[in-house]
Amino acid sequence: MAKPKVVITRKLPAAAEERAKKLFDVELNASDVPLEAAALARAMREADGLLPCVADKITAELLATPGRKARIVANYGVGYNNIDVAAAKANGVVVTNTPDVLTEDTADLALTLMLATARRVGEGERELRSGKWTGWRPTHMLATQVHGKTLGLIGIGRIGRAVARRAHFGFGMKIIYHDPYPLSEAEAQALGAERKDSIEAVLNASDFVSLHCPATPETRHLMNAARLAQMRKGSILINTARGDVVNENDLIAALQAGTIGGAGLDVFEREPLVPAALVARENVVLTPHLGSAVMEVRDLMANTVVDNIQALIDGRMPPNCVNPQVLKLS
Ligand code: DGY
Repeated sequence: MAKPKVVITRKLPAAAEERAKKLFDVELNASDVPLEAAALARAMREADGLLPCVADKITAELLATPGRKARIVANYGVGYNNIDVAAAKANGVVVTNTPDVLTEDTADLALTLMLATARRVGEGERELRSGKWTGWRPTHMLATQVHGKTLGLIGIGRIGRAVARRAHFGFGMKIIYHDPYPLSEAEAQALGAERKDSIEAVLNASDFVSLHCPATPETRHLMNAARLAQMRKGSILINTARGDVVNENDLIAALQAGTIGGAGLDVFEREPLVPAALVARENVVLTPHLGSAVMEVRDLMANTVVDNIQALIDGRMPPNCVNPQVLKLS
């Protein structure tokens, strides 16, 4: 029997490509250049499944490609705001993602950005590398203390909880959070986390604010000028979630006005574009969407995504289906 055809839009870790080759008739992207809309549409017409990554835009138009054959869009990533899930549902296309495997490492990066921003690591490195460091002195590059401070989490799902654990047990931080889905009493107690009734209440009381909500129409520009103005003077904003959650122009204005003390950002509104005004700021640490960029994790993500496709082909519910309503499997 012919193997099902799967188009993989970007280069995957080698072991994952080998595994996919054994299971499927795969079309790989050896050049690793993003596919144009026409190439994605051809994949939707010719393949049984599409394996995109979070940088590929899977639009309503693409999902409604005339003569579509693909039954699954198996996203290589936990976030799936790159996919029009409503259009996928309307067109009967199964969408899957890769949760769990990247939780701990994304949390590690959130802490990295928190420490690097507070302790002025980027600025210090730039000074040293440019040969401008003149030696130790008592008033050189004084930073914001991290341990024992209050960390406010907007969203306390898997990654938010992993950040809370690190901050509370590793750095003795007080954890406060807002999430429409509160922690159970036992979970809150274990993390020493206190729920606040509103986002504003978290912003008012935090020295650090870390964003851990998904990108949805409701969370778009959740951090805008009004909310940034609610943050404590000198406090630091961390974003490892999605660029859309922050109004970048408002953030730049808040940083320029000194409304907040700094920002550590791994995600941006118009990736890979990063505004020059952010790049120019010393009190901002910027990383290029590296939350899950760890060798072991990218292998696990690849296995997860292949498992999702294989399950659908075998007639099983994919383990990480985000729109199970479209499946009428018995
Ligand atoms: C995800 O999986 O959503 C991450 O942002 C990719 O690193």
